[in-house]
Amino acid sequence: MKRACVIGWPIAHSRSPLIHGHWLQRYRIDGSYTKEAVTPEEVQEFLRDLGERGFAGCNVTVPHKEVAFALADVVHDSARAVGAANTLWLEGGRLHAANTDTYGFMTHLAHEAPGWQTGDRPLLLLGAGGAARAIAYGFLEAGTREIMIANRTRERAEALAAHFGGDRLRVVDWAARSFAAREAGVIVNTTTIGMKGEGSLDLDLAGAPKSCVVADIVYVPLETELLADARRHGLKAVDGLGMLLHQAVPGFEKWFGVRPEVTTELRGIIVADIQGHA
Ligand code: ATR
Repeated sequence: MKRACVIGWPIAHSRSPLIHGHWLQRYRIDGSYTKEAVTPEEVQEFLRDLGERGFAGCNVTVPHKEVAFALADVVHDSARAVGAANTLWLEGGRLHAANTDTYGFMTHLAHEAPGWQTGDRPLLLLGAGGAARAIAYGFLEAGTREIMIANRTRERAEALAAHFGGDRLRVVDWAARSFAAREAGVIVNTTTIGMKGEGSLDLDLAGAPKSCVVADIVYVPLETELLADARRHGLKAVDGLGMLLHQAVPGFEKWFGVRPEVTTELRGIIVADIQGHA
């Protein structure tokens, strides 16, 4: 029996077991995917002994993504670019690390808004944490000409721009985000604003180009204020759940040998879970 897990601290909230559990059933695989509560003190030893514990690999969530990246024997470009790993697997006795958030976000965007690239307009990225880094990398790889980064704490936006270097990233003031939205081809919220009880983004979309695509990585609630507002303005809205579902695909394939499909059935299972907890 093949085994995989997700490690984090805390870990109770993770929906990854629902996703992988569904696929294990659907593809009739003799395997398991469990949640493992691993403290920051334990994480190094846990990952060193991953194989001895019977795991083919694991997902990594907060606060271990940077440690996982640092501890791996083989670091893939996706993880190196972000400086953090969320997917690990053993291959030839060596621990491999990748970051599938970029893949997850860009794949969902391509499905939901296939024409997002046509205008050659800049991306407006709200936020400058780990998720912003993964998404900035995706747009850079996709050839986006310019990325405007707006973050409440300007220094973090500058650090993100410096991380990737070059002249394609431009920091804009948090206070100027609605102004920046007027030229954006895509707007992505990577901040926690929009989650239940986390306040309002206060982004005025009235001046945004009609072709602008608005994406949120927040998925609880599924329809954030930002997405509802985008729809009201006739803009294409892309929810955050797709990123969660698609980022799970490469890990499942590595551990269990089948490339799983993100279906409406799977989506429905996670939506029901989100609504059950709402
Ligand atoms: P992750 O690594 O998951 O992307 P993070 O590093 O905790 O998460 O980043 C959270 C983001 O939400 C940051 O960009 C944060 O802004 P700061 O860098 O200024 O902290 C942003 N954020 C959280 N609450 C916010 C609020 N009330 N207003 C504006 N930005 C907020």
